[in-house]
Amino acid sequence: MAISTSSLKTVLTLSLLLCVGSCSAQLSTNFYSKTCPNVFTTVKSAVRSAISKESRMGASLLRLFFHDCFVNGCDGSILLDDTSSFTGEKNANPNRNSARGFDVVDDIKSKVEKVCPGVVSCADILAIAARDSVVILGGTSWNVKLGRRDSKTASQSAANNNIPPPTSNLNNLISSFQSKGLSTKDMVALSGGHTIGQARCTNFRARIYNESNIESSFAKTRQGRCPSSSGSGDNNLAPLDLQTPTAFDNNYFKNLINQKGLLHSDQQLFNGGSTDSQVRTYSNNPSTFNSDFAAAMIKMGDISPLTGSNGEIRKNCRRVN
Ligand code: HEM
Ligand SMILES: *[C@@H]1O[C@H](CO)[C@@H](O)[C@H](O)[C@H]1NC(C)=O
Repeated sequence: MAISTSSLKTVLTLSLLLCVGSCSAQLSTNFYSKTCPNVFTTVKSAVRSAISKESRMGASLLRLFFHDCFVNGCDGSILLDDTSSFTGEKNANPNRNSARGFDVVDDIKSKVEKVCPGVVSCADILAIAARDSVVILGGTSWNVKLGRRDSKTASQSAANNNIPPPTSNLNNLISSFQSKGLSTKDMVALSGGHTIGQARCTNFRARIYNESNIESSFAKTRQGRCPSSSGSGDNNLAPLDLQTPTAFDNNYFKNLINQKGLLHSDQQLFNGGSTDSQVRTYSNNPSTFNSDFAAAMIKMGDISPLTGSNGEIRKNCRRVN
């Protein structure tokens, strides 16, 4: 076999060069197979016990992953606590009095630290916990890509500017997701995350009192626990999916077809525009929703991760090492 040393060298150099551009940025499903083979079972059992204590927790963990990824990438930045000298993301408008599940993330992290100290990032824990939450609540599964590292910074202003508000119209939603490399199709599929969890009155008040593309008995029911004057009952909760708020299914899309989306932004997906047909498809075809949701979650998890020697593996998800 005549392969010269010099051509072998060329091949090695070329693959190394290619690697510098892209290898370090690649996540992989087997990232911890040698260094923490038990990470999946450890995270799943902690998520399972948290959800058995409070069924809403699966929704809260899924949302944490979304709010992490949309703010300078999936880097655990949402988990950092504010201190007198550090402003994190927890008090940004979309998160304040709203993002939850931080204690559960601490619990998962400490269990993972027991089995593999200093190895698994908080950013990856969020990615796994989000998947496990969906599965435990009856949704689809996917292979989670791993290898993210944790940020040493956070940005309250980026959280305010990058997480779409519930007042968004369809064009706002499309461009918000597009700016993260996610298509309109991904946006509609990911919105199916609102088949679980709760929202506060302050986020749907204007819709249930002032909008016309809402089914009237549904609006009346929601008004019962969400007074019209701002300031009263602001934190009263209602399920995002009125039918099965703790089951990960396609009822969210069926609701939209019946004009029973809770948020203004939800109903935008089925309001005579370009995404109506996709909402119809998902409402009739849970398996199409499931596979599109899984693919879009993987894409969302790929948003600007810190890899290689960037960032760190936090010991405590609430603070930089
Ligand atoms: C499309 C743009 C989106 C908007 C405008 C939006 C907005 C909101 C709002 C306003 C709430 C209620 C927060 C509160 O009242 O405290 C909420 C809750 C929630 N969101 Fe979204 N969201 C969007 C996309 C997503 C995505 C992509 C996911 C995940 C794949 C997601 C998962 C959730 C979950 C699970 C909850 C309930 C959380 C809980 O009960 O703790 N959302 N969202
Ligand atoms: C409904 O719209 C009216 C007129 O714009 C406004 O004055 C009122 O505050 C709105 N109500 C709610 C609950 O948003």
